[in-house]
Amino acid sequence: MDHQQRLDIAIQIAQKAGEQIADARRQQNFSHEYKGDDELVTEVDVAVDRFIAEQLEAAFPEEARLTEELSPDRSQLEQGGPLWVVDPIDGTVNFAYGHVHVAVSIALAVDGELQLGVVHAPFLGQTFAAIRGDGATLNGQAIVCSKAKTLERSLIATGFPYARDRRAPLIRRLNHVVHACRDIRRNGAAALDLCHVASGLLDGYYESVSPWDFAAGLLIAREAGAHTGHLYECPENLPADLYGENLLVTAPAIFNPLYELLRHADAGGRLEEE
Ligand code: IPD
Ligand code: CA
Ligand code: CA
Repeated sequence: MDHQQRLDIAIQIAQKAGEQIADARRQQNFSHEYKGDDELVTEVDVAVDRFIAEQLEAAFPEEARLTEELSPDRSQLEQGGPLWVVDPIDGTVNFAYGHVHVAVSIALAVDGELQLGVVHAPFLGQTFAAIRGDGATLNGQAIVCSKAKTLERSLIATGFPYARDRRAPLIRRLNHVVHACRDIRRNGAAALDLCHVASGLLDGYYESVSPWDFAAGLLIAREAGAHTGHLYECPENLPADLYGENLLVTAPAIFNPLYELLRHADAGGRLEEE
């Protein structure tokens, strides 16, 4: 089966999963629980994870899967061969509160290299997709990232981890970004933030996230012409395509300025107007 056929199946699965998410919102009778102290998870996250896993197993028997809720074993990242990387609901807090930034994210990596991805946002009517080397699409139409040239004219998205004790250094970064850029957005779904960089709704995005949050979106952004990378070197035992710490994804011309700004913030550097 070629990558286009595989992507078509992944898109169908993501869209069916999106229908389940939309149905669950209409019915409003799902339970809310917590993973650890602060991370919200609903029974819909788990049900959709199970549905996607069953569908992938039926279409691609015995290909490995890394899924946020039911198969989150990251040791699979170090193994070769095909790996499906799935976030059943990216934007769980948005989902639970009734916001629209919610997405299903499915990617395929082979030997650690992203090959294809789909991000489907059921409440926005947006299906983003990409195949490595073939460009990116939104609802079947080719997309390209923005032509932003300067930080002052750039809209930048980011996010924060559930663990509140890990947020302080990120506030330092944010302080520099709000001073230097047009404005910021915290939309609550990393996969969609990346796709919105891909389609020019955002000029850049930075965050530390898990493989399921970013795998599909990263490929889609890259295929739309965005510059993708990390603020610090990746560990040697993990493929860079599946490493989510300190991700930076932007319109090409602002990658270096934003990289420098965030590194300066991390180093405790002064704000420009101080
Ligand atoms: C979260 C979202 C959010 C990001 C968090 C992720 P979830 O994923 O992508 O935007 O800031 O780091 O954990 O929990 O809604 O799947
Ligand atoms: Ca997620
Ligand atoms: Ca999730």
